Amino acid sequence: MFRDLLDDPDNYSSQPGTFLDVPFVPTDDAVIKAMLDLAEVGPNDLLYDLGAGDGRIVVAAALERDTRCIGVEIDPLRIADAMEYAGDTGVEYLVDFIEEDIFTVDFSEATVVTLYLLESVNLQLRPRLLNELRPGTRIVSHAFSMGDWKPDELLAVSGIKIFKWVVPAKVAGTWEWESVDGTPHRVELQQKFQEITGRAWKAGKVVKLKNTYLSGNKLALDIESGAGEVAEFLLKFENNSLCSVEEF
Ligand SMILES: C[S@@+](CC[C@H](N)C(=O)[O-])C[C@H]1O[C@@H](n2cnc3c(N)ncnc32)[C@H](O)[C@@H]1O
Repeated sequence: MFRDLLDDPDNYSSQPGTFLDVPFVPTDDAVIKAMLDLAEVGPNDLLYDLGAGDGRIVVAAALERDTRCIGVEIDPLRIADAMEYAGDTGVEYLVDFIEEDIFTVDFSEATVVTLYLLESVNLQLRPRLLNELRPGTRIVSHAFSMGDWKPDELLAVSGIKIFKWVVPAKVAGTWEWESVDGTPHRVELQQKFQEITGRAWKAGKVVKLKNTYLSGNKLALDIESGAGEVAEFLLKFENNSLCSVEEF
C-alpha cells in the first residue's frame, strides 16, 4: 500500500500548498501495540509521534498506557482528525497535536519517539535524533530502518518489521578509574552509534577489552588480564563524561 502511494506523489498532499515528505498511511492496531510494547511505553514517558497522521499511535499510548503524548503533523486536515479522535476517546488531557514540520519541531524532551516515515526521511532525521534526544530515549520505527545505525531490537509482526533503537550516550575517548582494590584502569574507546571498540590498560599494562555493551548512558565492559582473570565494570556517563563506575 505504501509503495503504491509512493509511486504517485499527488497522493502525498491532502491540500494544496502542504508538502508532505511521506504520504498518510495509518499504522494498524496490531503494529501499534507491538511498537508500544517494544518501546516499553508507560505512564512516566513523553511520547512524540513524528508525522502523527490521524493520531492513532498517540491516542493508543494515552488510552492504554496512560502516557503523555505529542503528535507532530504538518497536514492540518490530519491534525483536525487527530484532535477529534482524541476528544472522542476522552484523552485530550494527555495529548497535544502540533502542526509543524518534523524537521524543525523541538522533540528533545521525548523519552519515546515513534516513526512511520521512510528510510530516507529517517536518515535525514537521524543526526537530530542522536544529538538532541537524551541518551536512553527509545525510538521505534514501523517498517523503516536507519541505514547503518543497527537496531538494538528488531521484530516482525505479520511480516512487518519494527525497529527499536536506544539513543546512545557519547562515550568515545579516554577514561580512567580505580578498581575496588585501588588498581588504576584506563580505556580508550571508539564509538559507532551503540557499538564500542577500543583498548584497555590495567596498572599501566595492556589488557583485553571484551564484551562491550552500551545502552543509553550505561556501558558494560569486561577487562581480561593475565591467566584469564576477568573483571566486569559498569560505567555510567553524564553530559559526555564518565560519572561513576561499578565493579562486579
Ligand atoms: C505514514 S503516515 C504515519 C501516520 C501515523 N504516525 C501512523 O503511524 O499511523 C506519515 C505522516 O507524516 C506526515 N508528514 C509527512 N511529512 C511531514 C513533515 N515534514 N512534517 C510533519 N508531518 C509530516 C504525513 O502527513 C502523514 O500523516
